[in-house]
Amino acid sequence: MRHLTVVDHPLVQHKLTLLRMKQTPTAEFRRLVNEIALLLAYEITRDLPLEEVPIETPLMPARSKVLAGKKVCIVSILRAGDGLLEGMLDLIPSARVGHIGLYRDPVTLQPVDYYYKVPQDIAERPVIVVDPMLATANSAARAIARLKESGARDIKFACLLAAPEGLARMKEAHPDVPVFTASLDDGLDDHGYILPGLGDAGDRLFGTK
Ligand code: PRP
Ligand code: URA
Repeated sequence: MRHLTVVDHPLVQHKLTLLRMKQTPTAEFRRLVNEIALLLAYEITRDLPLEEVPIETPLMPARSKVLAGKKVCIVSILRAGDGLLEGMLDLIPSARVGHIGLYRDPVTLQPVDYYYKVPQDIAERPVIVVDPMLATANSAARAIARLKESGARDIKFACLLAAPEGLARMKEAHPDVPVFTASLDDGLDDHGYILPGLGDAGDRLFGTK
């Protein structure tokens, strides 16, 4: 298993550059996050299991492949995770959806929990956790620990930007969880913001600055 996959497709890189620019307005920021989410979802679902089923084409009977097993569950870490959720659902419309409410205390950088709702049978589903930013990874590590308490075992994590510090923490806390990101950035500033980054993902998505 590869612990880190950087999805550096030219379309992803181009859209990410637009996303990073400080003058990009909210509506365009949201649209770009959606589009990148769809491209990340394409890569992250590459190893979903398939089974062969009998079908009839207009010309003849045939056997062809469809997705096997329980449907994927996408878990959004609120609130910025919801930006990625929409684009992923465009590609995987039948996915189940869970929400984990966490915000990062600006002083301690520790996550504060406020909401948790996931499908009861999450243990039987492939799970994709989404959050645009993997900074210290305190939020992602906490969310994944809670999902494991609910029985989830097959977990992947998708983000737009990851900091090396966050990746190291994820590898230590959850070595079994592969991370998919559109970019591995340079590091964190003194306030735990990713550099060069894109700023506060939640504020830019929802226009709350
Ligand atoms: C942001 C982001 C992650 C977290 C990443 O959320 O969406 O959840 O920070 O930082 P970490 O890796 O250091 O934990 P924030 O706490 O700003 O909440 P929001 O999504 O409600 O804006
Ligand atoms: N959360 C954000 O929204 N941006 C960062 O750079 C780090 C954490």
